[in-house]
Amino acid sequence: MVISEEIRAKIDAEIAKYPVKRGALLPALHLVQSEHGYISNELAKELGELFEIRPIEVMEVVSFYNMFYDSPQGRHHVYVCTNLPCSLRGGRDLLRQLESHLGLKPGQTSADGRITLNHEECLGACGYAPMMRVGAQYYENLDLEQAKKILSELE
Ligand code: FES
Repeated sequence: MVISEEIRAKIDAEIAKYPVKRGALLPALHLVQSEHGYISNELAKELGELFEIRPIEVMEVVSFYNMFYDSPQGRHHVYVCTNLPCSLRGGRDLLRQLESHLGLKPGQTSADGRITLNHEECLGACGYAPMMRVGAQYYENLDLEQAKKILSELE
């Protein structure tokens, strides 16, 4: 894996915005992940060289934020909220039922590469619990049948 010239130019443009090179690491990670789908050790090494930091420091940032991935992911990221307000209205049960329906545990990706299932803490939509997020799209006041229908319509 190699960061393309196009992405490299965009990273350079981000770096120019910051007084300290390292300040542009988050936008650089977004750019590289948009190109490769996740941040591999090889990409962390490349970014480390670019930012003059160790690859482990790149991976520390990747592992800190849940929007970055260190392994291949499905085309759709499904996050079921299991924080207390959602759980009181069935969020944990919904996750268990979806695990069973999809044959996946949180963090796993379907064999066809379509869905990566996960749980997440509060997504800020507690008043509409239980809810899940698919990518950036929120689905609220869910029951199992609604959730299954949403997932079945993902390409
Ligand atoms: S607890 Fe689920 S959105 Fe807040």
